[in-house]
Amino acid sequence: MTDVDTIRIFDTTLRDGEQSPGFTMNAEEKLILAQQLVKLGVDTIEAGFSAASPGDFECVRDIGHTLKGPMVVSLARTRLEDIDSAAEALKGSHNWGIHTFVASSALHMKYKLQQEPEDVLEGAVRAVERAKSYTDNVEFSPEDATRSEPDFLVRMCSECVRAGATIINIPDTVGYTTQYEMYELIDRLKNEVYNGDRITFSVHCHDDLGLAVANSLAAVRAGARQIECTINGIGERAGNASLEEIVMALKTRREFFKLDTRIRSEELYHSSRLLTQVTGMPVQANKAIVGANAFAHEAGIHQDGVLKNPLTYEIMTPESVGIKSNNLVLGKHSGRHALAERIRDLGYDISSGELNRVFKEFKRLADLKKTVYDEDIEALVTQSGDSVKGRYSLRSMNVVSGTNTVPTATVEMDIDGQVMRQANFGDGPVDAALNTIKGLTGSTCRLTHYKVNAITGGTDAQGEVTVSIEDKGKSATGRGTDLDIVIASAKAFVSALNRLEYRKGRIEGV
Ligand code: KIV
Ligand code: ZN
Repeated sequence: MTDVDTIRIFDTTLRDGEQSPGFTMNAEEKLILAQQLVKLGVDTIEAGFSAASPGDFECVRDIGHTLKGPMVVSLARTRLEDIDSAAEALKGSHNWGIHTFVASSALHMKYKLQQEPEDVLEGAVRAVERAKSYTDNVEFSPEDATRSEPDFLVRMCSECVRAGATIINIPDTVGYTTQYEMYELIDRLKNEVYNGDRITFSVHCHDDLGLAVANSLAAVRAGARQIECTINGIGERAGNASLEEIVMALKTRREFFKLDTRIRSEELYHSSRLLTQVTGMPVQANKAIVGANAFAHEAGIHQDGVLKNPLTYEIMTPESVGIKSNNLVLGKHSGRHALAERIRDLGYDISSGELNRVFKEFKRLADLKKTVYDEDIEALVTQSGDSVKGRYSLRSMNVVSGTNTVPTATVEMDIDGQVMRQANFGDGPVDAALNTIKGLTGSTCRLTHYKVNAITGGTDAQGEVTVSIEDKGKSATGRGTDLDIVIASAKAFVSALNRLEYRKGRIEGV
């Protein structure tokens, strides 16, 4: 191994990723993902924005106090109460820090903050000083840095370093910059920011022009030593730089970059699947590294080449990102032990209580289906009774539909701990079920997206339903799986309603 620098991987899936529409997660889901990020080997986990709501505060606190290994940070605006909240949530954690930010572009300062640049700068310095009074690990981000006036940016970063920041993170907040400009900007900041050779420069790129990964790599070529990114590239609007693409670019082209990360790349695929399962938001088939087609060779000439020598068309192996080729299927004669082993192979670590639940559901499914595929097992492991968390849960449901009848649903739910029952009609069985749930919960939401997906092939496949809903400017997505797609739809809808309630409790602004 040659003596090369290591790039810190700062994961913001649970903050920038989670705050974008459709990706809301509850506390338990965030913790499951955070534990997977530890396995993956990230250096820093941005667990959330503690001042956003009491729920976010608890999530940040729980993740910080549970995990051992990576640094856990909370985002904070430069308001002192935000800094105090981040410290309050994380103090006593194994390894923690505070990430504070404020806009530095003329546009944002004038219209969004409505403050004079000197006042913004002074506020940033006060925030960094306050954060430093709690912890040595203080990161400062000048938001919209790539559209900021460079001399002001240098001044703001220098003052924040003097005040105690050890990491200066340069966000391309609106995904506007190009690799060439990013290289020049980091190069300039390294030379001109006070103590630029003693602090760590970081980048945080958004993907509005599809350049987030390229811009992040350009920044490390210029000397940045931390990259902020997310699993599957989720995040505001078009998303953030994708963690798996960055890691595999550095690994596959190590001779060129001469840089390492601490990421265990064999955990990449599982991390991506886990996020998809938890949020119900799939990645597109042609997504680099983790998409269904990322390693599929369709053209005859490619297949022929790969058979003769995989290097002809494969620049990395599926195994290097954790895609396993073990396709043995399980069925109704498979025992608990075989199931437990398969679950472990798929990368999940579940308690014996959870295994009991999954085994029971596995047996029920295996009785109904000839073969149970890995995708079915993943669905059983990750659905974890999502519909029973939050204000609402589904107890039972009966739906009548046919050629000569009005589709009718009778639904029984737990709502805030009370059992409630109602029946209603609809244009079809799914419509009837969702109308009834809406009536029971009193929700005024609007369904903005509904998708049914067969988890595997065949008419006995489990149906996976994803729904997105919107109410008063807030949106949420839910996922449900079942052999019966009407039940899967109801589960997905209830899950989305619970997530919407959670989202409503948050403050705006980041
Ligand atoms: O995109 C952005 O500017 C951010 C900052 C808070 C780092 O997410
Ligand atoms: Zn961002």
